[in-house]
Amino acid sequence: MTTFTKALTTNELRAKIACVPRIPLAHLPTPLELLPRFSQAVSANGPRVWIKRDDCTGLLFGGNKARHNEFLIADALAKGADLVVWGAGVQSNNCRQTAAACAKVGLDIHLVLGRGKPASGPDVVQGNLLLDQIVGASVEIVEEAVGPALDRKITEVAERFRAKGRKDYVWDRPVVLPLAALSYTLCVAEIVEQSSASGFQPAAVYVSSSGSTGAGVALGAKALGLPYPVKSIAPMIWPWDSQQELSATANRAAELVGIETRLTPDDILFIGDYLGPGYGQPSDAGIEAMTLLARTEGLLVEHVYTAKALSGLIDHIRAGHFRADQDVVFIHTGGTPAIFAEAEMLAARIPRRELN
Ligand SMILES: Cc1ncc(COP(=O)(O)O)c(C=O)c1O
Repeated sequence: MTTFTKALTTNELRAKIACVPRIPLAHLPTPLELLPRFSQAVSANGPRVWIKRDDCTGLLFGGNKARHNEFLIADALAKGADLVVWGAGVQSNNCRQTAAACAKVGLDIHLVLGRGKPASGPDVVQGNLLLDQIVGASVEIVEEAVGPALDRKITEVAERFRAKGRKDYVWDRPVVLPLAALSYTLCVAEIVEQSSASGFQPAAVYVSSSGSTGAGVALGAKALGLPYPVKSIAPMIWPWDSQQELSATANRAAELVGIETRLTPDDILFIGDYLGPGYGQPSDAGIEAMTLLARTEGLLVEHVYTAKALSGLIDHIRAGHFRADQDVVFIHTGGTPAIFAEAEMLAARIPRRELN
């Protein structure tokens, strides 16, 4: 039997989510800005492209994890933690913003950063790794690769601290991903309200995600009954079924706050075509997206996540997916400090302009 769930209004969605702990960390709502010169440069007959500036969430150079951490750090505090044990690649934006959130609320943080391949950048003390150290995270670099091996290592390290009497809050996917996803349902609510205030309804929304951000936007889109697609462009392909995983994460998030909507894997519009040579490795199309946005709007996307997602949107526009009288929204999830750890590689790939 098919059951129909009534779409929530943005205020009803907010009211539901108000039942879980949250602390203010991000500058919200982030601006929704039109990119007139970029839109024209991508295609003279293409749609207007808008950018949702989640790179401006604050918290040590901005990004999607400022929204996530409003829920995760609140959960850590509610559970009486005195230490956060977190981990990802050596140039992790997640770890940098989580370290900043911990500094802001006075929690200790220990980062377990995996240098194994695929890793998001080299372990030079630059970019995110430099910021981790400045903001006072204790950093342990390990050989494991991001994924199940690193997750096991993080659990082991957390147990080491627990044995010493610390009360840790640990990177544990089933706990943290649904809470992080909730924060992105609220980003969708902002897009609905801001686009309406600007006099348009998007034809589509694009974001870079293989995880909780994508789960959150998909849940937000379905719970709010949006008539347009919200697409996740993958920065990495996990060794599991991402549509299955993201829909399960979205459903756990919905259950947590009493949202009746449920997702099936088909509700996750997950696009793996713009990964290029692999996670963390720049793609030619991503480098083109990065230079085009920078040179038409003075805005930066970085090579690991946002440039690849933007290259997907550019490709869809050029392939004629949208009409000239339509509007599309790109959610900029931040991550820009990562470029400084890859200065040489990027300098070699970015075409120079020389005026005579
Ligand atoms: C800049 C940036 N964008 C997008 C993402 C994707 O987020 P997730 O796959 O965790 O939803 C990340 C994850 O680290 C990121 O750092």
